[in-house]
Order: sequence, then structure tokens, then C-alpha cells
Amino acid sequence: MEPHICVIPAAGLGTRFLPATKAMPKELIPVLDRPVIQWAVEEAVAAGAGEIVLVLAEGRNELAEHLRPNPSLERILIERGKHQELEAVRRAGSLARITVARQREPRGLGDAVLCAAAAVGDQPFLCMLPDDLSIADPPVLEQLRDAHRELGTPVLALMRVPNDQISRYGCADVVETRGRLHRIRGLVEKPPAGEAKSDLAVMGRYVLTPDIFAALRQTTPGALGEIQLTDGLSALLAKGDVWGVEFEGDLLDVGTPAGWLATSIRLARNDPRFREAVSGALAMAAA
Ligand code: UTP
Repeated sequence: MEPHICVIPAAGLGTRFLPATKAMPKELIPVLDRPVIQWAVEEAVAAGAGEIVLVLAEGRNELAEHLRPNPSLERILIERGKHQELEAVRRAGSLARITVARQREPRGLGDAVLCAAAAVGDQPFLCMLPDDLSIADPPVLEQLRDAHRELGTPVLALMRVPNDQISRYGCADVVETRGRLHRIRGLVEKPPAGEAKSDLAVMGRYVLTPDIFAALRQTTPGALGEIQLTDGLSALLAKGDVWGVEFEGDLLDVGTPAGWLATSIRLARNDPRFREAVSGALAMAAA
């Protein structure tokens, strides 16, 4: 069955981006002309998602509002003849059907995914962390969806990282390789330097099967009371095949100020609307 729901967990505290995220979710921070959440949803839609399950913190509605129609704003834009802006506002509000699931406390990514269980039901689904933007053709989530179509198993996004950086990521221990596809036999979250089984890091794009929910329900919380998605995935590995795709293209960080800045500059240089402005600013800064 083709996954048609994409779960986007967005209930984290965004501590790496404080104080910007003190009163708003980090997924509302704009990259070029649209907030991070819109980049994420556009990628999910390209991968075949018709419905987005947003996992939001209690009382936080801004992200859902961005993705739903805003009739009063549309009326004003019509009255003022702002056709291009109207088009942009309508597009953002009609990308996909939006369902909200609530995470009552930030108890980790695994818990956030579990909060989407009722909305997803008994079917495979896409899942993506909006902390990274996909600069890839086809987008990373679409590459995973294609691999899932071929393999029928859960599929994780894998990226090769330099050996001295793997301890910042979840690391995949692989048992079989077919081109860019790797069958995974183990996952280790942030392995100590020198102990990693590979240089393949697990990134925040997934195709998951509904048995992940039972696995997460049985996962015991870690030291900070957080339920890790990696632990739930490890339980799935013990029962059946899980594959990874070493995707083509890049995932660019927008979850930290430095990452956001570098990503914004890179995207601006590739966008005719911003190229001149950013090149001029960089030339002035270098002078
Ligand atoms: P991060 O590890 O980036 O955590 O979560 P965070 O809280 O958002 O940010 P930092 O690390 O404190 O700066 C990865 C994804 O999982 C979501 C986040 O919103 C982000 O999209 N998440 C994380 C939740 O939805 N709930 C949680 O309890 C934790």
C-alpha cells in the first residue's frame, strides 16, 4: 500500500535556536520567503502525501494555521488587488489536508511519533523531521518512498558522514548492500568516537510501518524521560527487515542559527529572486 499520510513531529522545544523559539515554534522560522514547515510539507506532497499529521505541543496552533486557508486575509488581498500575494497565501493553505495530533509534554521524538498513532491507523506512513531541508531531485522523502515501493519494509534515510562526525548521529550497522540500498541489522544512537560500525548516519526522513507504534509503546524512556525513535526502530529490526537508502542530494540544517544561515545563503544563491541581493551582500562582506 502506498503511504499517503506524512507525520511531521514539530512539538520540540527548539533549544538550539533560543531565544528565537521562545514564543514560536522553530518550524515557523522563514527560509527565503516561506517558513520551514512549508518547505517540509511541499516535500511530503511531492512524495505522494495527501494528508499531513502535524504533531504539535499543547496550545500551539501557528503551524496548522499557516497550512490552512485564511479567508479574511484572502479577502483583504483580493480587495487590494494583491494577486501574487493572494496566490502565495492560497497555495500555502491548500497543499494538503492537515490533521493535528497533540504531544502533551516534549517526551522525545519516539513519543511524538506515537502521538500520531490514532491519526495514522493501520497503514504505512511517511515521517519527516523538518529540521533539515531537502535539496535533492527527486526530494529525499520521494527517494525513500520509491525504495519502500520496491522493498515493502520500513525505510530510513542514510547519509555518509566523516568518521570524526558519526558520534553526533544515529549510526546504522548494515548487513547487506544493493547499490544505494542497505539492509540494517542494528542502530546505535551517537556511538562513541572510534566505536561506530559504519559511517552511515540516520537522517530525519522515514517510511514507517504501523508496527512502530506497538514497538514505541513498549520502549522504556531514557534518562531524561524521553522515548527515542531509535529504540522503537531497533525493536522493529529484531522482528523483520528494515532498509536504509543512501539518498542522492543534500539535507541542509535549519534547526540551528548557523545551519539556518548557511542554508539560507545557499538557497538564495540558487534562486533568481534572491541571487543578486545575496551575492551583493557577500561581496560587500568580503571587501
Ligand atoms: P530535535 O532533536 O531537533 O529537538 O527534534 P528540538 O526540541 O526540536 O530542538 P533542540 O534540539 O532542542 O534544539 C527533532 C524533531 O522532533 C520533534 C522536534 O519538533 C523536531 O522536529 N520533537 C522532538 C517533538 O515533536 N517532540 C519531542 O518531544 C522532541
